[in-house]
Amino acid sequence: MMRAYVTGATGFVGSNIAAAFAAEGADVHCPVRSDHPDPRLSLERLDVLDPAAVIASVERRRPDVIVHSMILNDHDLMYADRRLAWQCYVGTTETLADAANRVGALLILVSTDWVFDGTQGPAAEDTPPNPTTLYGVLKLASEEAVRHLATRGAVARVSAVQGHHLARPTTVRRQDRGFGYLAASIVDALAEGRTFTVWEAPDINNVATPSLASECGRVMHRIAAIGATGVFHCCGAEPVTRRQLAELTCDVFDLDRSLLRYGPPEPGGMERGVVPYDTTLSTAITSERLGTTPLTTRLILERFKEERLGTEG
Ligand SMILES: NC(=O)c1ccc[n+]([C@@H]2O[C@H](COP(=O)([O-])OP(=O)(O)OC[C@H]3O[C@@H](n4cnc5c(N)ncnc54)[C@H](OP(=O)(O)O)[C@@H]3O)[C@@H](O)[C@H]2O)c1
Repeated sequence: MMRAYVTGATGFVGSNIAAAFAAEGADVHCPVRSDHPDPRLSLERLDVLDPAAVIASVERRRPDVIVHSMILNDHDLMYADRRLAWQCYVGTTETLADAANRVGALLILVSTDWVFDGTQGPAAEDTPPNPTTLYGVLKLASEEAVRHLATRGAVARVSAVQGHHLARPTTVRRQDRGFGYLAASIVDALAEGRTFTVWEAPDINNVATPSLASECGRVMHRIAAIGATGVFHCCGAEPVTRRQLAELTCDVFDLDRSLLRYGPPEPGGMERGVVPYDTTLSTAITSERLGTTPLTTRLILERFKEERLGTEG
């Protein structure tokens, strides 16, 4: 049985990765700071910022694969305390590379389309990155830590992730600077008869390749199962604008499109630096290497609808 060690498993993407590995029959252990409702996971209270504790934990568990999904997801804090931000992204990746090497595990770093500058799309797995934000720089530095330090390392970039948060199903979902959660935010608002303003502006991430969180987890399980190393794009098949994703969400969920509005984001809380406008990823190398087929955006939303009905029903 594959032994997996998943950080950030109480987060949106990480909860789906842990569930996907468990569904494939893996023994999944998760260092967490807070509760997780999935009884299939083995949980351990641990601060991933504590290198000695992480190394001791990995040496006890001796996983075959470590999936590093944890991040500091507090935009203002990242800018206010850049040393902490570096430690949370790059430092934890260095620690996990060391831990993975000690037990012979494959390290998979969950990364992002924001390592590109917004003009490079469709960016391939081997396109040289050029991040324009602090978040993008920290993710690229983490990717480089995997490349240079992990004896067996993989980078799994995800983008515009849609789906269900499996650890915090009641989390209030909001549109943000990336466009993860966008479909869920729209469904939540329109299903209650509220209007929803889809952001449109030249200085936001407005074009990206949606992914389904559960499918990202399945593709990462495939990387682990065949022991693949290198860079992978674990996303869907097609780039869309926020507007296209919003309208398709209405079609798939039978929601009233007339409740959609279009306009700029509210001031404040936005990324500093130059936000990448078009972060389209291509998946040709990933599909070829893993034998996987990326999902169309409609299929991503249809699967999300099934998952949502499954957890509600
Ligand atoms: N969401 C997207 O659309 C998207 C797009 C591109 C890439 N990504 C990548 O996907 C990954 C996950 O992102 P997400 O959106 O799922 O983030 P998220 O929901 O904010 O999850 C972050 C996770 O990290 C955990 N964490 C933070 N600090 C920790 C610490 N010191 N010790 C232990 N755990 C700690 C959090 O635990 P608590 O629950 O205790 O806070 C939570 O489980 C990241 O690598 C991100 O770069 C996401």
